[in-house]
Amino acid sequence: MYFTAPRGGRCACGPAKPVPRPLLVWNPITHGNDWLSLDMDAQNLYDLSPALRLMIMGLTVALGPLAWVWLRNKKAPVAQRLRVLTLLTLFLTFDLVIFGAFTRLTDSGLGCPDWPGCYGSASPLGAQLHIDAAQSAMPTGPVTHSKAWIEMVHRYLATGVGVLILTLAVVSWRERERNPSDRRAAPRSDSPLGGQRITRSEKRGGPISPWWPTVTLLWVCLQGAFGALTVTMKLFPAIVTLHLLGGLVLLALLKAQAVRYAQAQGEQSPVALHNALRVFVGVTFALLWLQIALGGWVSTNYAVLACTDFPTCQNSLWPAMDFSQGFTLWRELGAGHDGANISFQALTAIHYVHRLSAYLVFAAMLALAARLYRVPALRRSAQWLAGLALLQAATGLGNVVLGWPLMAAVSHTGGAAGLVIVLTGVVFSSRNAFDTVSASKLSASRLPA
Ligand code: HEM
Repeated sequence: MYFTAPRGGRCACGPAKPVPRPLLVWNPITHGNDWLSLDMDAQNLYDLSPALRLMIMGLTVALGPLAWVWLRNKKAPVAQRLRVLTLLTLFLTFDLVIFGAFTRLTDSGLGCPDWPGCYGSASPLGAQLHIDAAQSAMPTGPVTHSKAWIEMVHRYLATGVGVLILTLAVVSWRERERNPSDRRAAPRSDSPLGGQRITRSEKRGGPISPWWPTVTLLWVCLQGAFGALTVTMKLFPAIVTLHLLGGLVLLALLKAQAVRYAQAQGEQSPVALHNALRVFVGVTFALLWLQIALGGWVSTNYAVLACTDFPTCQNSLWPAMDFSQGFTLWRELGAGHDGANISFQALTAIHYVHRLSAYLVFAAMLALAARLYRVPALRRSAQWLAGLALLQAATGLGNVVLGWPLMAAVSHTGGAAGLVIVLTGVVFSSRNAFDTVSASKLSASRLPA
């Protein structure tokens, strides 16, 4: 049930000159019962000739949402438009993460073996002859017409999201230039957080600091670079896992900005939480990221079918596992650190660690949800947290006992993305109650007698 790895390697005698090699790709349709080989290095890995046409494609994807936001909020102040655009970009990035999982799960990640285009074209239409040749050589191989389209649609959507984030950054800086006084910080007097400083613009309900969308823009560029490496390094597990994590960090950045806008426009004020509860939120948030990294490691190593029973694995509560090989992070897909095929015990370790840590994370999320439910302003978030944690457990279990159906696998990624959004919302919506108390005591002590 498990796969072997890409064989061969780079020539040690010269810099960056790849040695032609066959790439072995696991066939997810037969779950590893047959092996496919393809000479990927016959194709140039980077061909920037379609870059401009791809950017136009991204602009076309982004034009719809941009027009919608600007037309529907024609009379609204710029800050309001930026807020709606941030929310829309968050929604589209969520879809992009789901579509990324779909791309991986349908084994379409190498549907176009070069970057940023497809065999040097901006769309699979221009690459028909190459795809035909690859598909007839291997009808269930990594390159087929449908896989090429899935891969390219993922790249178009990603470019579109990039254009939206670029727009957010440019418009935020332009607004800052038009209102230079926003640069100075003014003490927040209208919130329970007496000591906290916000910009004048935020105080008026204006745009948030332009550094937020700027950092997001840099992040989306980095994410694009990881997308390129995913293809050119042929699904190297550490790179694909970082690509998944990067997509979720992007969601977190956008959610943080959405919360800041709601606060700046007076629709939300930061909720004061006691220190212990804030620590609990922080620890659960950190555990969630660890669990996501472990999950990404399961899927990018195709270790899902190493255990097909539950709660046992291979009918044992402690199956044979090889942790050192399983958690060697820098190695090719399907290979151990010594270049030999990865062992089944290593795949079992990868799978089982994610499962065991899930019990802890699941318990932490449910306990946190129960605690947050008692804070009226966070009751909604608590309900979402509990609901998504249950969905995550159900879809994870579905992956194991139902033999990894596409629906369960895609929903599992969606659940993880949803949990990131909800917990980022809680982190940015809350403030330390101790600060609030001491800040108000401080201002009271300064009042004239
Ligand atoms: C408790 C919270 C959990 C979180 C946050 C979480 C998160 C994740 C993430 C982010 C992935 C990678 C998805 C991708 O690459 O697109 C993953 C994969 C996976 N998870 Fe979880 N998981 C959780 C619980 C569970 C549980 C309880 C189980 C099983 C009982 C489970 C089984 C799996 C399996 C089998 C995979 C591999 C799926 C694939 O290859 O498509 N997970 N998980």
